[in-house]
Formats: sequence, structure tokens, C-alpha cells
Amino acid sequence: SFICRDITPLLKDPIAFGAMIDIWEDHLKTRYSMVDYIAGLDARGFLFGPVLAQRLGIGFVLIRKKGKLPGPTKSVSYALEYGQAELEIQSDALKPGEKVILVDDLLATGGTMRAACELIEKMKADVLECSVVIELKSLQGAEKLKPVPVYSLLQYN
Ligand code: PRP
Ligand code: MG
Repeated sequence: SFICRDITPLLKDPIAFGAMIDIWEDHLKTRYSMVDYIAGLDARGFLFGPVLAQRLGIGFVLIRKKGKLPGPTKSVSYALEYGQAELEIQSDALKPGEKVILVDDLLATGGTMRAACELIEKMKADVLECSVVIELKSLQGAEKLKPVPVYSLLQYN
């Protein structure tokens, strides 16, 4: 059976949304003394990444699906359940050695997040952590991302 974990009630409730961002912000501030950027994954990573970036007082960088970003881009293709997709970042978005937290709503198979990590690596920047609201543990996405650590606020099997 297919169970959909719906994030819309969390976004709709300002108390719940605020409490979640408080916990996430506290984790990032405690764990990392120096972060240059939050990078969010198109599309649902855009719901959380900019809020966190503002809380940390740092900038937000967009990782988008193919053909959406202006100017020169770097891209990485990844396998979907059916077919292929591509993620892109602007070629001047990051400098070598800059430290990035990747943010998305969900870690399922980890294929999307793996592609995002490869993009950051192509820029010669460093992924400190893959940070998500929900992690579907039984799909073992975190294994694909090693040695980069995964942080999730909610875990399901
Ligand atoms: C969903 C979700 C994650 C990804 C997780 O995005 O928002 O980005 O799938 O799956 P994975 O770990 O198996 O790669 P989706 O591509 O459906 O699109 P959206 O974010 O644009 O809605
Ligand atoms: Mg997504």
C-alpha cells in the first residue's frame, strides 16, 4: 500500500511550523559553528530552506529541476522510478570550500538528495549535512549519502 506523508497541515499551522523550525534551527546552530549557505531542493525544499537560512542569518541557494535557472548552470542527472531527471545549480552559486546544508522535505530512496550532493561536490563546495523533515527509514536513503550525515525531524518505517 502507498502511504502519503502530508506536510501541508504542518505548514498551515503557524504554531506547529514555528515549533518545527525552532527545533531545526537549534540543531543546526548546536551542531555546526560555521555554515555558509542553506541549499534547498526544488520544489518542496523551498518551503523550509529559506526560513532556516533567515534564522541562521545566512543566504539561500536554489537547486532546481532542469531548465529553470537563468545563466550558466552545472547539472547532474539521476534515476527516478520511471526514467531520468536532472538537477541544476548556477555555476557561480558556490565557491570552492564553502560549507552547505542541503534541505528538503523528504528523504525516501535518497536518489534526489544524492544528486544534490554530487552537484555541490561538482562545485568543489562541501555538504555538511542532508537535512529533511521526514525520513523513510526502511528505504535506507541515508546509506546512499554516506559519509555525509542525515538529519531528520521525523522518522517513519
Ligand atoms: C519528492 C520529495 C523529495 C524526493 C524524495 O520530490 O520532495 O525531493 O521526492 O525522493 P527520493 O529520496 O526517493 O529521491 P519530487 O521529485 O516528487 O518533487 P517536488 O519536490 O518538486 O514536489
Ligand atoms: Mg522534492
